[in-house]
Amino acid sequence: MRTQICIIGAGPAGLLLGHLLRAEGVECVVIERQTPDYILGRIRAGVLEEITVSLMARLGLDARLKAEGLPHGGFNLADGERLIRIDIADLTGKQVVVYGQTEVTRDLMAAREERGLEVVYEAADVALHDVESDAPFVTYTKEGTEHRVDARFVVGCDGFHGPSRKAIPANVAKEYLREYPFGWLGILADVPPCNHELIYANHERGFALASMRSESRSRYYVDVPLTDRVEEWSDERLWDELAVRLGPEAAAHMTRGPAIEKSIAPLRSYVFAPMRHGSLLLCGDAAHIVPPTGAKGLNLAASDVHYAAEALTGYFRRNDAGAIAAYSDTALARVWKSERFSWSLTRLMHRFPEDGPFERAMQVAELDYIATSRAAQTAIAENYVGLPI
Ligand code: APR
Ligand code: PHB
Repeated sequence: MRTQICIIGAGPAGLLLGHLLRAEGVECVVIERQTPDYILGRIRAGVLEEITVSLMARLGLDARLKAEGLPHGGFNLADGERLIRIDIADLTGKQVVVYGQTEVTRDLMAAREERGLEVVYEAADVALHDVESDAPFVTYTKEGTEHRVDARFVVGCDGFHGPSRKAIPANVAKEYLREYPFGWLGILADVPPCNHELIYANHERGFALASMRSESRSRYYVDVPLTDRVEEWSDERLWDELAVRLGPEAAAHMTRGPAIEKSIAPLRSYVFAPMRHGSLLLCGDAAHIVPPTGAKGLNLAASDVHYAAEALTGYFRRNDAGAIAAYSDTALARVWKSERFSWSLTRLMHRFPEDGPFERAMQVAELDYIATSRAAQTAIAENYVGLPI
């Protein structure tokens, strides 16, 4: 098969890019290893920045997002004594929308046929070839048959474990990695949220987050040592821990219920540079990972995809290769700012095992500064709501 762009990975990044290219009349095909059901079974964060909402709106795929998404004009930092409200609407004039990232993927997936977006699911042994040339190609096997896709560009949207990043030679690449000494234990339950806005808490027993998917479905997290196993955390133990860490006010409004999903995810910060090599571009988790504090993962994938779609459309519609040459620098400038914010909010809100009294005093001072300074709150709010693209 021959096409203009071969996209690897049908997660949110790959599907969003595919739809944006199809909307501009650019030919593409998406190659995905898993089944649609497997992909929709992955539970992800649930806060959308304006960039993500506006891309869904531009595609006209935001009907459910508009109907079911919960606009939030603020969120809270709890420091064990008080709730510090960050009034993002007042401080930035913008808001975020609470809507499951899995639901974004579901909406993009549902529109495949109507929009003529071809996705090959259950493609095994996906491999990239000749990415340094102007005629790269991708091979895969499906139902025992080998297939080949010839394209002008290949875009790796295949997440942290996919093959695309590995097609860039180590001697031109640089990796930046920070692993955190804890993971997030998350629980999803069909109970009303304890608060109408999110609460990120730094308690002496550790971090907690109260989030939601809807008025009747809650998502909570606590941080746990990486050695903990999910079987060690009965629902009851987890609800007890949440009640302590989130504080008496939130605990009084917390409804407990059986877990629909419960899992532990490690936290890491990771950046791979460059994000383009020859005819291969990387988008989303294929190039970078952020810790979930601040929910930047999907939003950062969306801004990469926006830059990539503009660059590829410019190439095919206006014969302009300039934005492709600049893609890596353009995308990385925003990636690093999101990495910095996710890292600093993680640093502020967690108790690190290696921290001593000095590090703790720094957290107390920073939280007190945020509580009393509109300038400090504005800096947090403009990052939380999403920096300009
Ligand atoms: N061949 C084909 N597809 C592959 C391969 C492979 N060898 N390896 C991985 N994939 C697919 C995965 O199955 C997955 O569907 O690539 C897709 C990558 O999707 P995500 O991991 O969700 O990454 P991305 O689309 O970049 O998502 C960005 O959105 O929901 C958030 O937390 C998520 O931060 C992430 C962000
Ligand atoms: C979530 O709802 O899953 C969520 C919300 C905010 C975060 C991380 C995760 O920062």
